[in-house]
Amino acid sequence: MKNKINISLPSLKEAKLRRNVDVSTIRYIMNDKYDNLGKGKTYYIFTYGCQGNEADSEVMAGILESMGYVKSTDPMNSDLVLLNTCCIRENAEQRIWGVLGQLKGRKREHPDMLVGICGCMPQEEKATKKIIESYDVDIIFGTHNRHHLPELIFKAYESKAKVVEVLSNEGLILEDAPKIRESKHKAWVNIMFGCDEFCTYCIVPYTRGRERSRAKEDIINEVKDLVKNGYKEVTLLGQNVNAYGKDLGLDYTFGDLLYDLDKTGIERIRYTTSHPRDLDEKTMLAMRDCKSVMPHLHLPVQSGDDDILKIMNRKYTYAEYMSKINRLKELVPDISITTDIIVGFPNETEEQFQNTLKLVREVGFEGAFTFIYSPREGTPAAKMKDNVSLEEKHDRLNRLIELTNQGYLKGHQRFVGQTVEVLVDEESKNGDGMMCGYSKHLKLTHFKSNDKSLIGKIVKVKVTEAKTWFMIGDLVED
Ligand code: 5AD
Ligand code: SF4
Repeated sequence: MKNKINISLPSLKEAKLRRNVDVSTIRYIMNDKYDNLGKGKTYYIFTYGCQGNEADSEVMAGILESMGYVKSTDPMNSDLVLLNTCCIRENAEQRIWGVLGQLKGRKREHPDMLVGICGCMPQEEKATKKIIESYDVDIIFGTHNRHHLPELIFKAYESKAKVVEVLSNEGLILEDAPKIRESKHKAWVNIMFGCDEFCTYCIVPYTRGRERSRAKEDIINEVKDLVKNGYKEVTLLGQNVNAYGKDLGLDYTFGDLLYDLDKTGIERIRYTTSHPRDLDEKTMLAMRDCKSVMPHLHLPVQSGDDDILKIMNRKYTYAEYMSKINRLKELVPDISITTDIIVGFPNETEEQFQNTLKLVREVGFEGAFTFIYSPREGTPAAKMKDNVSLEEKHDRLNRLIELTNQGYLKGHQRFVGQTVEVLVDEESKNGDGMMCGYSKHLKLTHFKSNDKSLIGKIVKVKVTEAKTWFMIGDLVED
């Protein structure tokens, strides 16, 4: 096996600690030493998992391009390949092992190719051990040290050894890092990092560190800059955006941030993800008052059963969740609400699952990400004995999906005959001469046109047809 330089290995125990230390904000400065390290070389980044990872990949692309690397479209023929990984469920990891296997073969033919793995998976002790022992990977780093990327690449070239640096601390805030954004009209904007919720099934608080908010000035300036550069939409990112500001000890919350960002002139603001307990009145009022805050909310419920919610450590009940939903519907009557749901949590009974179905019907979700519970090592739920068979879990998932699919369809049907505003993304993959984008309520909308100059513009579309996964309509000339 290739030699390795262990700068640091992950520790779930360390990652769990919430030490009372100040979170540092680092302002990124490129060291001249690494300026030309990527000159004449290409890179490719595989991104898995959540929008947080997509945003992180944009930063890594920015750092790599500032070193001279050029983006490639073919991973197997790139000089540097990074896998920005997710470990939220077992199946997210399975895909990554497959790609690592393919790259292993490719590296045998091209020994100069560098392969790096980063993001959430290396934060797990077991995964990092397996990567080091069984795969031909040159650089292994986690979620807290993207800004060390030039140095890690330098070390890998220089030493020809595996370079491992996974930090299991609180994390930091990285400002001023270069970014290569995927879109020219929609942008991710991190407002906070980490999670302190410790839902018992979830690995995120261990992989992403302590909840820490960016300074409001940095966020507002980033959005103002995006407006200047022609961006139409921002999606504010955090594991629990409703906790924004709590760690700063200021009298300034997520709702205040929405009111302030509304004044920047950005046309559309979305945000994800919300926690039902922390979703407050001010945020809901901002959804009513701010023209740019879109009438869609993703509010993960996870389960509709009070006992399961308690064991999940979600800190709300069915009734409390419903009272937030009802208040939202009062303030924003046409709001579209989507959610995340886990079925087959350890020892979930049929009756408890029925409570989830009841809640889904009562809320009228217009979309849901549905998952079978997946044990994650190091989390409390992974230690619970489970008496629900996998067959039963699949059966529950299927019944749930049948119901949530009706919600998707109804969510589209309610717009038939109406004119909606669509931010145009691209040509449709579904058929010739169609373009597509998202409406204010986050409904994927296709319309007849082959005018590519519409990409990045907001157009009016009269909806003529509703399908489960999208709507179809005609462009309405102004
Ligand atoms: N098993 C299944 N689903 C999970 N999620 C988080 N952890 C797990 C797990 N261990 C789901 C939750 C969360 C979404 C991002 O992923 O529904 O909201
Ligand atoms: Fe995981 Fe819960 Fe934090 Fe969401 S709020 S990231 S589910 S621990």
